[in-house]
Amino acid sequence: MPLVPMRILLDHAAENEYGVVALNVNNMEQIQAIMTAAQETDSPVIVQASRGARKYTNDAFLRHLMLAAVELNTNIPIAMHLDHGNGPETCFSAIEQGFTSVMMDGSLTEDGKTPSSYEYNAEVTRKVVDAAHAVGVSVEGELGALGGIEDGHGAGLSEEEVKEHLTNPDQAEQFVAETSVDALAVAIGTSHGAYKFTHKPTGEVLKMDLIEEIHRRLPNTHLVMHGSSSVPQELQDIINQYGGDIKQTYGAPVEEIHRGIKNGVRKVNVDTDSRLAITGAIRKVFAENPAAFDPRKYLDPARAAMAEVCKARMIAFGQAGNAGKIKPVTCKQMIDFYNNK
Ligand code: G3H
Ligand code: 13P
Ligand code: ZN
Repeated sequence: MPLVPMRILLDHAAENEYGVVALNVNNMEQIQAIMTAAQETDSPVIVQASRGARKYTNDAFLRHLMLAAVELNTNIPIAMHLDHGNGPETCFSAIEQGFTSVMMDGSLTEDGKTPSSYEYNAEVTRKVVDAAHAVGVSVEGELGALGGIEDGHGAGLSEEEVKEHLTNPDQAEQFVAETSVDALAVAIGTSHGAYKFTHKPTGEVLKMDLIEEIHRRLPNTHLVMHGSSSVPQELQDIINQYGGDIKQTYGAPVEEIHRGIKNGVRKVNVDTDSRLAITGAIRKVFAENPAAFDPRKYLDPARAAMAEVCKARMIAFGQAGNAGKIKPVTCKQMIDFYNNK
């Protein structure tokens, strides 16, 4: 089956009350890791690529790798999503490259750093929705701002400052009505990257009650949790055991993500956990075998370690066992769906 629009995966997840992990990729091994995990668990897949990933792969490599994933996994519905598009042009070029879903992150201005006004956000998001839905492509918007900074993207808010930029439920209602986004990323106290929390977060730090309130007001909007890596202790330990230097840190606990999934969260973004798994596996090979120099000797275990993380999240979020139950729909078929709304 061809790449599918993300909307159909999120609709199925909502109808059956599960979440779908959206995994970032930059290279062949990461895509293969996700597909291995999907095959082993019969999971639908959201592969996402940031602007950095598109630059790293020059788009063309990414596109062809995704086409290879489709060719080799005909039983798995796969959506290809742009993560944190910084402006309409970035979203439009992704659509031209074959992405079946785009995120217009208008919560920050085009520099990807400065929190923007509500009006700017609604305007650019609406513009992208109009163009994307005309070709059946799904759109995710974002309201509120996350903490942390990754490769230049993010406002760099501290754990304390994040509390000032949580999603406002009134604005969320207005935003969805004004933009018609398929999915809405909400800021509930998470951050991108490994250094999210200095202590294991409680329900007070991660504002799960805010998710509940937004879901109560927008029961038909798919909610998205960014910054959802759990930063498992064992992955930190492997890196440090083999010469790395990861300072003690805490991520978003899987139990808290479960609460989100019970309250409308359908897309759960995970990148850092894959990065940690890959890095730990490569460090281990080099530490135990300093003479190794065949890339396959370290990329193979790295790929296997990421596949284990992907599998664990697919099972934990409930998407396992659902790939075969989803009726594939093309972007072209989605055009009628949007026209009839
Ligand atoms: O939200 C950020 C993702 O983890 C992607 O990060 O921009 O370094 O590719 P990146
Ligand atoms: P993590 O850094 O927690 O993996 O978050 C990834 C993310 O939100 C990508 O958009
Ligand atoms: Zn994100």
